[in-house]
Amino acid sequence: MKNLSIIACISQDFGLGLDNQLLWQIKPDMRFFRQTTEGHPVVMGSKTFRSIGRPLPHRENIILSRQEIDSPDIKVFHDQSALDAYLETLDGEKFIIGGASLYNAYIDLADKLYLTEVAASKPADTYFPTFDKSKYHRKILQSDTYEGITFEIIEYTRKESNL
Ligand SMILES: NC(=O)c1ccc[n+]([C@@H]2O[C@H](COP(=O)([O-])OP(=O)(O)OC[C@H]3O[C@@H](n4cnc5c(N)ncnc54)[C@H](OP(=O)(O)O)[C@@H]3O)[C@@H](O)[C@H]2O)c1
Repeated sequence: MKNLSIIACISQDFGLGLDNQLLWQIKPDMRFFRQTTEGHPVVMGSKTFRSIGRPLPHRENIILSRQEIDSPDIKVFHDQSALDAYLETLDGEKFIIGGASLYNAYIDLADKLYLTEVAASKPADTYFPTFDKSKYHRKILQSDTYEGITFEIIEYTRKESNL
């Protein structure tokens, strides 16, 4: 899908979260997330929306759920085909921001993955899908240590677009 990107923070073994929470709160990663997604539509599953607890400011918040969600300032889609049809109408870059079910559903449709790769592991109950790194160009955007946690922010761009 045109201009569809994924953004996530993953552990060494691709862990994403535990008990509907993130595994780490890495401030430079949060800053990168905000700066990269601000001004763009963000798409998430209902569990991630509940985990964040409010719509993200300065972004169009799009939630996928089979239920009604009573919250102002969000757009809810009840199935992926309706969501896809809507996303196709959006011209600029749009971001899948989680969680695992959305990453699984969209990894083959996204041309770009922004992954914060943490050089550590923690117990997790949700995981990012494995993907074939040889099919992507890999660019290191940031390499840093925050409060003893070493991480790299990597931009993966698909070599052959899925358009
Ligand atoms: N590390 C990171 O970068 C990152 C980012 C985001 C989230 N997370 C973590 O990921 C975990 C949550 O991931 P998750 O996979 O459990 O939940 P999720 O993807 O956030 O949400 C799952 C929910 O989305 C809805 N949904 C998914 N597919 C659907 C479809 N095809 N049609 C209609 N509705 C659909 C359903 O909502 P209903 O049940 O309401 O119908 C489903 O229960 C949490 O631990 C969170 O902290 C990590």
